[in-house]
Amino acid sequence: MTRPTGADMRRGPFRAGDRVQLTDPKGRLHTITLEAGKEFHTHRGHLRHDDVIGAPDGTVVRHTSGADYLALRPLLSDFVLSMPRGAQVVYPKDAGQIVTYADIFPGATVVEAGVGSGALSLSLLRAVGEQGRLLSFERREDFADIARANARAFFGLDHPAWTVTVGDLVDALPEAVEPGTVDRVVLDMLAPWDCLGVVADALAPGGVLICYVATTTQLSRVAEAAKAAGGWTPPQAWESMNRGWHLEGLAVRPEHRMHGHTGFLVTLRRLAPDTDAHLRRSRPAPGAYGEDYVPASGDWSAADLGERPVSDKKLRRTRRDAQGTADRVTGMATEGEEEG
Ligand SMILES: C[S@@+](CC[C@H](N)C(=O)[O-])C[C@H]1O[C@@H](n2cnc3c(N)ncnc32)[C@H](O)[C@@H]1O
Repeated sequence: MTRPTGADMRRGPFRAGDRVQLTDPKGRLHTITLEAGKEFHTHRGHLRHDDVIGAPDGTVVRHTSGADYLALRPLLSDFVLSMPRGAQVVYPKDAGQIVTYADIFPGATVVEAGVGSGALSLSLLRAVGEQGRLLSFERREDFADIARANARAFFGLDHPAWTVTVGDLVDALPEAVEPGTVDRVVLDMLAPWDCLGVVADALAPGGVLICYVATTTQLSRVAEAAKAAGGWTPPQAWESMNRGWHLEGLAVRPEHRMHGHTGFLVTLRRLAPDTDAHLRRSRPAPGAYGEDYVPASGDWSAADLGERPVSDKKLRRTRRDAQGTADRVTGMATEGEEEG
């Protein structure tokens, strides 16, 4: 029986080509890709990759300074936070919610846009598995390259369920899928309301659309656009907050720092054709659409929503880093298989 893609990279003693997360005595994290004969240097000395290769996961390795470093394989949630990024990534807490509340199942046909750095794509690929299909769309070629390299580094090969198309979802989706054949759609982009029409055509009746947006203004606009278009269940929106806890003897309390905001999620389900009129909708609260209400319109830029642009120079470096890591992982992984 063939094992699920990437499973072999997540088990057993450390091998050359594995990514390893080292935790130093101060709790700082360093991610390395193991190569025979190489050293990991800090300003106090170094640690030999050869001391890690062959050791079990969860090993403690001695640095030449005398400090002990804990070596662990990064989990998916560690990987996405340490991988090279072009665009802002979906954080693991939100990726988990997306997989669950959009009901991403093994074998599903899922459409995703945009791809950005590919963080969410990794969770979606794990959820659909080899028998599913993830059709991802990204309008920037440089981001698509970074995402592909990150996924290759994570899975050790190009995932068989994944297709990345460079282009705008509005133009590319109708070309890529037959109407009514997609089970789930996940949108993480500035203007998801622009894509509602093509998504409505692509989704099967009962299919789920989930949008991840950073601001309440986007949340309101996509919800109102779907209501105005019809053919959808009423949108359901929420946000989630993760507050870590400090655990030390009797000092059991919330951590002092937390990530206060990542994004909002909104889900809708596609109705069967011509059923919209039969859906009973609750009357809007008085004033919700009163004379102060102005429907959002016009084109919004990332800067309008407070996003900082990433320089071309940084993106070129990120793309090189991502491809370098992917080449090291896949090159070594192939050697490892041949030896085995
Ligand atoms: C925030 S990033 C996505 C991050 C990604 N979900 C991750 O976890 O790494 C948003 C991306 O959407 C892309 N994008 C925006 N509108 C698009 C559209 N209509 N079609 C395709 N891609 C789009 C942008 O180029 C950008 O890379």
